Amino acid sequence: MKIAVTRRLFQSEIDRLRERFEVAEWDSDLPPDPDQLRELLSDAVGALTLLTDRIDDDVLAAHPSLRVISNLAVGYDNIDVPAATSRGVAVCTTPDVLTETTAEFALALIFDAARQVSAGDRSARAGEWETWYPMRFLGRGVAGTTLGIVGFGRIGRNLAEMASALGMRVVVSDPAGDSAAYENLPLAELLQTSDVVSIHTPLTPSTRQLLDAERIGMMKDDAVLINTARGPVIDTTALVAALEAGKLRAVGLDVTDPEPLPQTHPLYAFERVTITPHIASATVATRTEMARLAVDNIIAVLEGTEPPHCLNPEVLERD
Ligand code: GLV
Repeated sequence: MKIAVTRRLFQSEIDRLRERFEVAEWDSDLPPDPDQLRELLSDAVGALTLLTDRIDDDVLAAHPSLRVISNLAVGYDNIDVPAATSRGVAVCTTPDVLTETTAEFALALIFDAARQVSAGDRSARAGEWETWYPMRFLGRGVAGTTLGIVGFGRIGRNLAEMASALGMRVVVSDPAGDSAAYENLPLAELLQTSDVVSIHTPLTPSTRQLLDAERIGMMKDDAVLINTARGPVIDTTALVAALEAGKLRAVGLDVTDPEPLPQTHPLYAFERVTITPHIASATVATRTEMARLAVDNIIAVLEGTEPPHCLNPEVLERD
């Protein structure tokens, strides 16, 4: 049985696959292009994929041997799950192990925006540090400010706990979320009242461009916007226009649309925007755990035991 692995990963985890299966590895830090992906997947029964691999119905149709797609991510907007289900392919993910790590990174971006860590670093490197400036890089502390969390799943909840401990007032907006200790507001009200807005929704048809021009317009002029979820949840063109108009005090983006963000993109021109290359879950421990889970998912599906995280277990029951 062949397993395709679409990127260079931790060797110890690949070895666990090799003990049981034939493994075809894409031996690069860059993703295969769609043709290379098809080639890699040919005759595979399982695939360990990344969020950069588009697994749509055409790809699934071209590879009827596939029985499991194991995505190294909590998000799965790169995979057409209903198509996989109707073709009998299990789709698995790696949640939980990255919850705290991702929430910590959202918090890092919140602090960065509040206290201009990256902007100060860029300024020092650019040779602009001539003396001690009493009136430059004047930030705003986070304690006592209101954090609006859009999407109250595992990561949003973890951020809420950490932010509360820092003295932030936390409000959330999630029609489906059990917000327990936090006020659950309609999105418009959250946007109008929050000093910091942090996005934690998955990317779905209903959250695509959720923060459009109108909703960005509802935010306080000096609000901070943070996104560690998926880039297309924010309308990038509308965000650039808002920044050009002087709206928003700072923005922290670990995800962008498009992604990667081309070097010539207008977002890079704003001093008050910090951009990181989709690294919110990037700790050694978390990425190791994600790889372990992704491998466990494949082994379990193919050996007929219960995978740790399967999005469409009905496929396994059918088997
Ligand atoms: C990363 O973005 C993930 O979904 O795990």
